[in-house]
Amino acid sequence: MLTTPMLDSIKKVEATRPQRVGFEPARMTAEEKDELLKEFHPDYKEAGFAVIGVGPNKGNKAPQELQELLHSNSIIHGADLDLNKVTYDVDVLIIGGGGAGMSAAIEAHMAGADAMIVTKLRIGDANSMMAEGGIQAADKDNDSPMQHYLDAFGGGHYAAKPELLRRLVMDGPGAIEWLNSLGVMFDKKPDGTMVTTHGGGTSRKRMHACADYTGAEITRVLRDEVQNLEIPVVEFTAVVELILDENGNAAGAVLMNMETGEYMIARAKTVIIATGGAGRLHYQGFPTSNHYGATADGLILAYRAGANLLYQDTIQYHPTGVAYPAQLFGALVTEKVRSIGAMLLNADGEPFIHPLETRDVACAAVIRECLARSKGVPTPTGQGVWLDTPLIEILHGKGHIEKSIPGMFRMYMNYDIDMREVPILIYPTFHYQNGGIEIEADGATGKIRNLYVAGEAVGGIHGRNRLMGNSMLDIIVFGRLCGQAAAKNPVSIGKLSLDHVDAYAQELKSAGIETGTRSPLLLPKYTRDVCRS
Ligand code: FUM
Repeated sequence: MLTTPMLDSIKKVEATRPQRVGFEPARMTAEEKDELLKEFHPDYKEAGFAVIGVGPNKGNKAPQELQELLHSNSIIHGADLDLNKVTYDVDVLIIGGGGAGMSAAIEAHMAGADAMIVTKLRIGDANSMMAEGGIQAADKDNDSPMQHYLDAFGGGHYAAKPELLRRLVMDGPGAIEWLNSLGVMFDKKPDGTMVTTHGGGTSRKRMHACADYTGAEITRVLRDEVQNLEIPVVEFTAVVELILDENGNAAGAVLMNMETGEYMIARAKTVIIATGGAGRLHYQGFPTSNHYGATADGLILAYRAGANLLYQDTIQYHPTGVAYPAQLFGALVTEKVRSIGAMLLNADGEPFIHPLETRDVACAAVIRECLARSKGVPTPTGQGVWLDTPLIEILHGKGHIEKSIPGMFRMYMNYDIDMREVPILIYPTFHYQNGGIEIEADGATGKIRNLYVAGEAVGGIHGRNRLMGNSMLDIIVFGRLCGQAAAKNPVSIGKLSLDHVDAYAQELKSAGIETGTRSPLLLPKYTRDVCRS
């Protein structure tokens, strides 16, 4: 039920709507964007960060919640483990059952390797499954990978590692072809060509989508493929530590049964981290669009083993998380809603930002509207601004919402909010970690031989801000690449060792750091509290 202040504000939105049909708010200059970001984007809020005191990134800043985990001892610290008692012995061990992990497993298997996926939840329980708006790739005549590169490089504040971004855009068209050939039901025109649309910061229409269920559809197909190929999947089993061999190369992992707490040893010639994001760490108290397993595990495992992090201090807060109803607080309202015409409006019904500015800029503008200009609409959990969804059907005709964003439509109808009739309230939500583990062009960490990383756990592909649809693309491109590279890697494994875990514990002790926390976290803190009560 909408509150009286919400209903009063909706009247103002309705009053300005006729004059907004066909109106496009001005784009901001680069200087205006910089100023806005510095003042209002959470990445610039010093209080949200702390300095890392140990390990390869010692002296760099990280979100406080991540720093606390990096400053923690291992779950297995002090445990008596027999590394000779090997339960699983494989060529390629893939940690994570989302889109990147499954793509890696399929390619490693196709290359003849004995691949195995281990996942702390079920196969497919991942941010990939929850992706809505689409996947970018420059496969239209008026577009090119170079154009895609320029958009993404600028959108990421010129900070992307060029060799990674180059790989992303060059392999984009091939990734779409691969998914299409596996059976992903992309939106197509009657003649069979793919429908493509704009996202924030794109100069060409290159967003391929499956309505607003893009991630669910891609995950469905990848999961089917993993099952059809009979790739082993060990579910409800977390990786709690990487195992190196006596030469310091990745050589497996310590697994933990999530139900019984029992430890097992997996030995592997190569290891691929595909553990996804960190939304459930709720940096700076933000809600999140992420699934329950998004607790930055891969970053912790790799860091303790000696890998570098890159841009761990930059986070994407999606400008349009649900602000109301409270039951959906923080859930994703896909950027596609704006790309098909919905405008961002304040409590007085005034547009305050172009709807397709890049996400960091749009996020900062929403926060400014609410916190500095007092133009937010109060909600039970804080405040929000409007996304004027009825405008979509004025622009495209009746039925367009149900056809192009059916997931959004149903999500709101479950709470008796008809987005065809009334605008919806949104506020930024923690959506994506722009930073992660540093990799080289072939997906390898470089510093630790035989250790690869794909998907959201990687830092550097997108720089300091990611454009919509480029993460669905990176999980496929880098997942496939890592699977192929890992399968080819001819290695012999030395004696298994966890010396790096002891060395890290010693470093923490020498630095006088004692958090009392163990990491990786595996599940959000509140999940544990609920389980205990
Ligand atoms: O808004 C969205 O649909 C999100 C897409 C993405 O993060 O790439």
